[in-house]
Amino acid sequence: MRLERILHSQGFGSRKACRSMIRNGRVRLAGRIIDDPFAELSTEELVFTVDEQTWSYRDKAYLVLNKPAGYECSHRPQCHPSVFALLPAPLVARGVQCVGRLDQDTAGLLLLSDDGQFIHRWSSGKKNVPKVYEASTAEAVTDAQIQALLSGVHLNGEPTPVHAVACERVAENTLRLTVTEGKYHQIKRMVAAAGNHVERLHRSKIGGFALPSDLARGQWRWLTNADVAALGAFVSP
Ligand code: URA
Repeated sequence: MRLERILHSQGFGSRKACRSMIRNGRVRLAGRIIDDPFAELSTEELVFTVDEQTWSYRDKAYLVLNKPAGYECSHRPQCHPSVFALLPAPLVARGVQCVGRLDQDTAGLLLLSDDGQFIHRWSSGKKNVPKVYEASTAEAVTDAQIQALLSGVHLNGEPTPVHAVACERVAENTLRLTVTEGKYHQIKRMVAAAGNHVERLHRSKIGGFALPSDLARGQWRWLTNADVAALGAFVSP
């Protein structure tokens, strides 16, 4: 692929902007400036540098972000900064989107991608993807609340009761719940319907993929093949 096209595909600007970036000597391969925008390169395991930023070519972008509370999952945030402010500009420019949304005040595991099929696969409520949340509650969690969450609670606007596929008390005021849908404010509404109130919410797992313990809050990293395989574990086809 031509170098200008490579840069454009990775989010470094329009073809014209990429051409001038290359001609201005801002792009290096293995430390050597390549100033020909039309140089043909293999994209396999390609690593290049733009100014001081090292970048590895990826046909599609698959990321995990440890979302802090206080960020909106939107390109046009209303009241808080956007999660996209936590990503490098080229990822935003190439059209990375959130795979399902977390509320502004929810923290934890957020997947992002520019692969439409992947986004649909992992965000559609119809695909039965288990998602695990830890909810800190205002009141001590009771057995009756756990039972209600497991057997199903009525949520406004939902025709049938909604239930957690797993629910346990992990501390006096903390619940761990697994749900397979992705309804609006689902966990908060479920816990409220069971007679308690969510004060803090954290998502720790999607499918078989847990938020990496070494990923600091606000940090992102690429998903590995092993991560994507783990995602698919425990998910019915
Ligand atoms: N349920 C909620 O209530 N909020 C989220 O952000 C995710 C699930």
